[in-house]
Amino acid sequence: MLRLSLVVFALAGVFADAASGASIPHLRKQGVATQLIVDDRPFLILGGELANSSASNLAYLKPRWPRLAQLNLNTVLAPVSWELIEPEQGRFDFAIVDGLIRDARAHDMRLVLLWFGSWKNSMSSYVPAWIKRDPKRFERVRTPDGRQVDILSAFSESNREADAAAFRALLAHLKTFDQRRTVIMVQVENEVAMLPVAREYGAAANAAYAGAVPQRLLEFLAQHRERLHPTLRSVWESNGSKTRGSWESVFGPGIATEEIFTAWHYARYVDAVAQAGKAEYPLPMFANAALNRPRRLPGEYPSGGPLPHLIDIWKAGAPTLDFLSPDIYFPNFQDWIAPYARRDNALFVPEANRAGRPEAGAEAFLAIGRYDAMGVSPFSIDSVEDPTKDRLSGAYATLQQIAPIVLEHQGTGRMTAVQPPVSYEGAVDTSPQQFELGGYRFHATFLHQWTPVGEQRPATHGAIIVNLGEDEFLVAGSGVYLEFESLDATRREAGIESIWEGEFAEGRWMPGRLLNGDESHQGRRLMLPREEFGIQKLRLYRY
Ligand code: DGJ
Repeated sequence: MLRLSLVVFALAGVFADAASGASIPHLRKQGVATQLIVDDRPFLILGGELANSSASNLAYLKPRWPRLAQLNLNTVLAPVSWELIEPEQGRFDFAIVDGLIRDARAHDMRLVLLWFGSWKNSMSSYVPAWIKRDPKRFERVRTPDGRQVDILSAFSESNREADAAAFRALLAHLKTFDQRRTVIMVQVENEVAMLPVAREYGAAANAAYAGAVPQRLLEFLAQHRERLHPTLRSVWESNGSKTRGSWESVFGPGIATEEIFTAWHYARYVDAVAQAGKAEYPLPMFANAALNRPRRLPGEYPSGGPLPHLIDIWKAGAPTLDFLSPDIYFPNFQDWIAPYARRDNALFVPEANRAGRPEAGAEAFLAIGRYDAMGVSPFSIDSVEDPTKDRLSGAYATLQQIAPIVLEHQGTGRMTAVQPPVSYEGAVDTSPQQFELGGYRFHATFLHQWTPVGEQRPATHGAIIVNLGEDEFLVAGSGVYLEFESLDATRREAGIESIWEGEFAEGRWMPGRLLNGDESHQGRRLMLPREEFGIQKLRLYRY
């Protein structure tokens, strides 16, 4: 009997992979923030997304894992391509997924898997050959002149069912194979949106466009009127806030309505795929948006994705998704994260521009500290040649140390972050910024007093500031200078009692130097180092 149970135990170890016993990763509210819970604790994603083809070959990736570890990533975003896992309809091969999971574990990292299914950047290049070669069964998009383009139609039931079946099989496999919860979230499709026109023109699409707006969408608009994105709200209200009617009678004639129509149908399709996966294994799921270049029309930019002005359409059409995310390749990072950090939408940036930019660390601080992001992830992370020279590795090392404190304070109003805003054109606004925290007004500046401005890169400067207790603050970041003012009417002046630099080693504060003299401008200000990221504990007093 004992021998038999030992054999059963050993086999379970081989086949089922030792279970962690932790709950399935999920989202949880903390104050106004939404956090990702992994192994039953809040988790901060210090991520990086692989270049598109890197995860198609484990051997290719093998020598790159140590570099990802040197960048201090704790999570890798990796594509799973439909064509690789379902080479024949109904025959699945998960060897590559299993290998990715094993390799991530060996480097102590988690995975966010990206389902490259029906659509990857508007196109359908990741679908299996048995779909590519059968346009009769798996219908394509038609342009206004009736021509087919090599993009799967969102109006085809067989497309949707085939995708949902593959996604379901993937999640069912993860449920049994990944009992240690290495995979913490799944992105459903990649940058779904329509090009080169604003909507599809096949027979089913045309009929749907001539028909009525689904009641479900109209009810959503009526129920959420107060918090709709202002652009959508004004389109709907300026056409009479109708609660029934055709697309053009409810939203007005024109291309903006075509885009809303497209968003709705993509959302419904993606929702069906996500539902099939969640029915097997309910990991958090999201969709990502290719952002709309300003002053371009839908179709010139990818039309109908989960863009800021279409978030509500996606919320109504894809309630199975946990949140919607921006992929930010424009310099004005802050302008794009703000609309996604909504009460009803958790912020995560799966593609925070291309890896290797010196601003990436400061952007991570801003998103996590001010907008309660669950994390960020620059794209093509495996292309960083020398991690030791990349500012992201220092930023992530610092965030890793302060993560428990940051996570404890997200959503509570006792933490903020600063970084100079950058315009769409790339101009950095270095004006001083002010904010109030813990009964003090903070004045933040971003330029070093004694260094020529031309030699400074203020967009790489940023800080998180946490109010730990009365008069006590944790400040972490790089290139930010802080001065203080008391908000107490009876003791209007504020002074620095002490500033200690230091580190957290396994959660314990290890003080370094006491910073005074030139290192605090003779007690006038807190100064974070410019060349690297640092942590300082600050005590203020009033007099
Ligand atoms: C955005 C896409 O989502 C990525 O997969 C990749 O194609 C990048 N663009 C390339 O810049």
